[in-house]
Amino acid sequence: MCGIIGVVAKSAVKSVLEGLGRLEYRGYDSSGISILSNNKIHTIKAEGKLTNLKHRLSRQPIDGDCCIGHTRWATHGRANVTNAHPHQYGQVSVVHNGIIENYLHLKQQLMQWGHHFNSSTDSEVIPHLINHYLAQPMTHEEAIEKAIGQLKGSYALGVLINGANNNLYAVKQGSPLVISQGSHGAYMASDAMALGADSGKIYYPEDNELITLNSNEIKCCSRSINKKIHFINNKKYVKAVSKGEHSSFMEKEIFEQVDLLKRLSVNNHTNEYSIINFKDLNKITIIACGTSYYAASVAKTWFEQYANILVEVDIASEYRYRSPVVIDNELTIFVSQSGETADTLAALRYAKSKKAQTLALVNAVNSSIAREANFTFEIYAGPEIGVASTKAFSCQLAIFYKMALEAAKQTAFIDKQELTQLALNFVQLPYIMEKVLQRCADIKLMAKKLCKYSNILFLGRGVLTAIAQEGALKLKEISYIHAEAYAAGELKHGPIALLDEQMPVLVIAPKNSLTEKLLSNIKEVQARNAPLFIIGDHSINEHINLRDDEFFELPAIPESILPIISVIPMQLLALYSAQTLGKNVDQPRNLAKSVTVE
Ligand code: G6P
Repeated sequence: MCGIIGVVAKSAVKSVLEGLGRLEYRGYDSSGISILSNNKIHTIKAEGKLTNLKHRLSRQPIDGDCCIGHTRWATHGRANVTNAHPHQYGQVSVVHNGIIENYLHLKQQLMQWGHHFNSSTDSEVIPHLINHYLAQPMTHEEAIEKAIGQLKGSYALGVLINGANNNLYAVKQGSPLVISQGSHGAYMASDAMALGADSGKIYYPEDNELITLNSNEIKCCSRSINKKIHFINNKKYVKAVSKGEHSSFMEKEIFEQVDLLKRLSVNNHTNEYSIINFKDLNKITIIACGTSYYAASVAKTWFEQYANILVEVDIASEYRYRSPVVIDNELTIFVSQSGETADTLAALRYAKSKKAQTLALVNAVNSSIAREANFTFEIYAGPEIGVASTKAFSCQLAIFYKMALEAAKQTAFIDKQELTQLALNFVQLPYIMEKVLQRCADIKLMAKKLCKYSNILFLGRGVLTAIAQEGALKLKEISYIHAEAYAAGELKHGPIALLDEQMPVLVIAPKNSLTEKLLSNIKEVQARNAPLFIIGDHSINEHINLRDDEFFELPAIPESILPIISVIPMQLLALYSAQTLGKNVDQPRNLAKSVTVE
């Protein structure tokens, strides 16, 4: 994934470090900067989180007016200083986001020409190639264009070249890149939210459009693309977000959900959704990755149950390579918090090429997915910093719920009275959620017991299977406890073989139409002596008699909104388990918030 940023302004290093802080959601395996100062490039890098780089810089302060920076999520080569960006060779320093697919071939060729490589990255070939062409001789622009002409794969690049001018070059193919003109300087970054307050005007360059940024101007300098840059107003930049009184961003984001849902339940966005003609749709396909995929799975149930619309749900990385059939009057919805997930973006492009109507459901409204879809709906979750998604999930569900009600209205599949009741349930939702959050201490008790195990099986039934899957995902993401989820009815078809005293089972068992069925599954677990944990209705425990640290009682919840409420104890369970085990909940190992590579 990786995040890149470049700044041409006074005190550029400070701005680059601030921007890297906002880009750390893309990876935190290492970070580094290059500064062009007195016609010379200085590069400083550090392994691990950005604080390590800041620490290094505090011992070796340096500044200049032209600086590039990088925060890395390792793809090619281990997470160490040698593989950290920027990669500097000869006169050139480069930050790269993306993957150079033909780097082995290029590296071999460059080695034959006498080049020596330090790192195991794919990116290092880029400064080598640019150097090679500069020596021909060529101008900076010619050398960069010639070098990128050799690259296969995806890239967004920031390039500094030693020399008299303080130019910063930026170019991309397939990876996100935004250019910005502020009143104090010129900026480039992987996304608009990474830019600071001085980023009033932004521009999204086309593939292979080489941009030069300096203190006087920003211009397109590609030979093949002769274009004047038209900046648009930057709709959103992130003000510094703080944890407030909370111990982590994830905790803050979990507790923020009540207010977000209160806002979503009073705002009448439903009108917005009426631009979709649900009545004439033959099918909806919803495509996403990770947590967003589980939100899509819940949405399927709602569209089918309340509007009788056929819905298929697919994982983006599967959909894009499966040659799926797109039928007439099919709406394809792409769900993505970041709006930059590479697989989801590629799936969107595929659906568009098949002439499907596309709709993006995103949190980042400036993102590539938002810009490329035919329609975009915002989920209004605000910046989500914790790598494990929480508030974006409940906001995605809330918007899907509203869309399903609009669809139900248009198709008239359920009667008006039921529709009114469903809408009323939504208004009650944040207040019920608040009651659950107020009892977080009870979940903490459960987490303390549960986190002693190395494996755990989550079970749910019906629409809550997706919530069990999301709960298992949250737990493994941040506590590293191995967790898998199953539809409870599937237990007897395989996973039951795993059950013994060391294999706990957590069941989501609220009061709904499937409670009786679920009770039989719970009995099957008990009969195998597997430790049992239940998040459910009090009536369930009358049959099971679990202790306080094994049973979390859910309040009375209308069935339609159960998924949005029952995910809350799952999020808290993951949070408290990880905290008890002393893990960094905001930046779990190996993960990144926005996955911009395949
Ligand atoms: C990564 C994140 C997950 C997220 C998934 C999809 O794996 O760690 O939290 O659910 O990407 O991201 P998106 O931004 O497309 O919703």
